[in-house]
Amino acid sequence: NKGTYKHYMQKEIHEQPESLNTTMRGRLIRGGSSNGKNVLLGGLKDHLRTIRRSRRILFIGCGTSYNAALAARPILEELSGIPVTMEIASDLLDRKGPIYREDTAVFVSQSGETADTLNALEYALDNGALCVGITNAVGSAIARKTHCGVHINAGCEIGVASTKAYTSQIVVMAMLALAIGGNTISNQSRREAIIDGLFDLPNKVREVLKLNQEMRDLASQLVAEQSLLMFGRGYNYATALEGALKVKEVALMHTEGILAGEMKHGPLALVDENLPIIVIATHDSCFSKQQSVIQQLHARKGRLIVMCSRGGAASVCPGGASRVIEVPQVEDCLQPVINIVPLQLLAYHLTVLRGYNVDQPRNLAKSVTTE
Ligand code: UD1
Ligand code: M6R
Repeated sequence: NKGTYKHYMQKEIHEQPESLNTTMRGRLIRGGSSNGKNVLLGGLKDHLRTIRRSRRILFIGCGTSYNAALAARPILEELSGIPVTMEIASDLLDRKGPIYREDTAVFVSQSGETADTLNALEYALDNGALCVGITNAVGSAIARKTHCGVHINAGCEIGVASTKAYTSQIVVMAMLALAIGGNTISNQSRREAIIDGLFDLPNKVREVLKLNQEMRDLASQLVAEQSLLMFGRGYNYATALEGALKVKEVALMHTEGILAGEMKHGPLALVDENLPIIVIATHDSCFSKQQSVIQQLHARKGRLIVMCSRGGAASVCPGGASRVIEVPQVEDCLQPVINIVPLQLLAYHLTVLRGYNVDQPRNLAKSVTTE
């Protein structure tokens, strides 16, 4: 049921404040006398000791689920101190990449039925790794075959383009990082800031959704373009990849997500006064590096659209030339949840304006059950 919305994708984008609330319900603890703020993931509590002792954590998924894991990787590495490696499921299988008993393999999948991810799971099980699922569909193959896991509880997602599952996956993996990281004196204030940030996140998503009309205007300016680039780094490298995936899969516009640190190693050659470029430059420890990326793109007359933290337009706009998307600022590791929303809206409006099928893009299926 689409209610008052025209498309499921539109409905699912706009219901993210509620889906995130459901994802976190009963899993965040604030107040309790001695232990203060904490996270409780029922599906993992008996396995946390094993996960903490693992030599490596592998994130395994496809498409949007892979991107969500990429967004969560920095905070998991920071809080756990365990090396985290990223695997696209098909590539892990193509290489027969080594997996050991001392590994924790985390399988991220909205549907829980993706063939490549499921095959990678069988492979990791055969190799003796602890296998953890992050799934939306209760009772799905991946949820059943993993040793343990967390349901993201985002509610049924119908649009082929994954939107609310992405933000819920990131939130669950941030909670996973908090749960694995445990409570040490040295990271206590960081943990508390993240937990406070999680409590407030649905409100911040509600605020960023107010950019709907602005993103519609931007879409009308970009509607006839052939190509679009999105530059991100750090926590928001994933945002660039996921924003680009959304635009290409539904609006059928060639869009490339690029790690900003790689700009001078090739992509800079594409820059001219015609090609639109979205640069994600919200406030975090990478901000000054992103500022210099913006300056260099500007020096080559790049057609820039800069996403920055609210109130930060002046610091990302050399000569006032760029168009700016201002978003609310949240804790750095949660910022990808905010930053993807305007790009989801942009992909949606571009699709409507270009006259393509929003909920069922050509050639694609919601759940990819063959290799
Ligand atoms: C569970 C209940 C929830 C109830 C709550 C109360 C289910 C599905 N969930 O939620 O309805 O309100 O207790 O305490 O009945 N799992 C996997 N792989 C996955 C996902 C999950 O093995 O990919 C396993 C978990 O390890 C766990 C079980 O499935 O054993 C349920 O997971 P989850 O729903 O996340 O657990 P709770 O949040 O505790
Ligand atoms: O159900 P899964 O999360 O395993 O699906 C993985 C991908 O097929 C999926 O995210 C795909 O990339 C989406 N259509 C992206 O919007």
